[in-house]
Amino acid sequence: MKLPSRRILAVLSVTALVASACSSSATPSPAGNTPGPTAAVTAAVTPAPTAAAGQTPVEVVSWWTTGGEASGFNAIIDAFNTANPTIQVTNSAIAGGAGSNAQAALQNRVLAGTPPDSFQVHMGHELLDTYVTPGYMDNLDDLYAANGWTTQFPKGVLDIVSAKDASGATHYYSVPLDIHRANVLWYNKTVFTSNNLTPPATWADFVTDAKVLAAKGITPLAVGDNGIWASGMLLEVMLIAELGSDGYNGLWTGVTDWSGAKVTAALNDFKTVLGYVNSDHSSLTWDQAADYLIPASAGAQPKAAMTMMGDWAAGEFDNKKFTDYGWIAAPGTTGVYDALADSFGLPSKAQHKDQVKLFLTLLGSAAGQDIFNPYKGSIPANSTAGHPATGAKQYSAYQTWAMGEWKADSIVPSLEHGAAAKPSWKGAVEAAVTVFVANPDVPTLQAALVQGCKDAGICK
Ligand code: GAL
Repeated sequence: MKLPSRRILAVLSVTALVASACSSSATPSPAGNTPGPTAAVTAAVTPAPTAAAGQTPVEVVSWWTTGGEASGFNAIIDAFNTANPTIQVTNSAIAGGAGSNAQAALQNRVLAGTPPDSFQVHMGHELLDTYVTPGYMDNLDDLYAANGWTTQFPKGVLDIVSAKDASGATHYYSVPLDIHRANVLWYNKTVFTSNNLTPPATWADFVTDAKVLAAKGITPLAVGDNGIWASGMLLEVMLIAELGSDGYNGLWTGVTDWSGAKVTAALNDFKTVLGYVNSDHSSLTWDQAADYLIPASAGAQPKAAMTMMGDWAAGEFDNKKFTDYGWIAAPGTTGVYDALADSFGLPSKAQHKDQVKLFLTLLGSAAGQDIFNPYKGSIPANSTAGHPATGAKQYSAYQTWAMGEWKADSIVPSLEHGAAAKPSWKGAVEAAVTVFVANPDVPTLQAALVQGCKDAGICK
């Protein structure tokens, strides 16, 4: 598979602004940029894992604890540990989708000077604003040169894992492992066929289907927002549906008016759709909500018909051996790929740099990406990957579809997964969504979003 650099570049045309803004990798937190971990964060030190005699322990932190996420990461760690008997890589995973718990813990450790040897971080603003600009990461220029990654990763990816130093030289700061799509609607195929329904192409179609499903006692849309990011992602997708890719991109650059009628329409859609979700949404994780599409026993009616979730849900379904699922682009977003990517970097205070660099080398390689991604639901970031070994887990029908979409779609950056805006702005959106989910008042939400853009320094 070949990942088109032109398209990733489009994704990250917004985030690439950050890379140029972050031109000095060595200087601490310039004004106007989101600071990295600060002294206000309470330091929490996690004990380093132990390894057997004769082995060097390498601690890596992710938030992959469930389903295909854990399976994929464990598979690549096992492959590494088997090939490197003197090293033992351990995944100190911290549960919480989208890093809702891991990110705070990681910042505490980086600040305390006791980071893990490497950790999961989204490419773009999350990596650059939080860790690179304040000077907490070593560059990985040697790995990029030794492995030919400057030609294997698309230019748009390279742009947002790198920053320029004072002399204008580019340095690379993390190794991208996957590309995910946030805007996918998953549905139970039997529920749709047995009710003569068509998966909804628009949010208006969704409401038509939802009324039929609700009358049958099936929750139309499963949501698990005990991490508020899941509802934030629903809002993000509503904004894409109403504004289109250019209009959505303009939200993050000050070109699109947050107080405009199209944003109001998206917020009204959001309010309507929240009327068709499970009443226990705030107590569920994203994967528990996705599991509502899986019948408790063969032939039973599942709790819910659909869920709007990133394509890590494909990994969850596959891991649960649930095959009766279909997917489409989230309503109103056909032809738009709401993208994000997980990467791993090298903290300056890592204890086992030589060993973790070997692990990072596997993560960035085509072979490593073809071990991990088939489990995860994502597509590889390395454009030379896409060919798992015979006998190994292969890419699914969903992933084959996603690879094709990736080549054809407009690419936009996900807010909730660290690509579209600096972390403090994402936090402001999440605070507003938290209020809205409990009390869905559109003018209040819109006013908070307008203010969020101003506070981010992007809107006047
Ligand atoms: C995203 C991450 C994905 C997946 C998801 C749910 O932020 O990029 O890889 O883990 O959260 O946990």
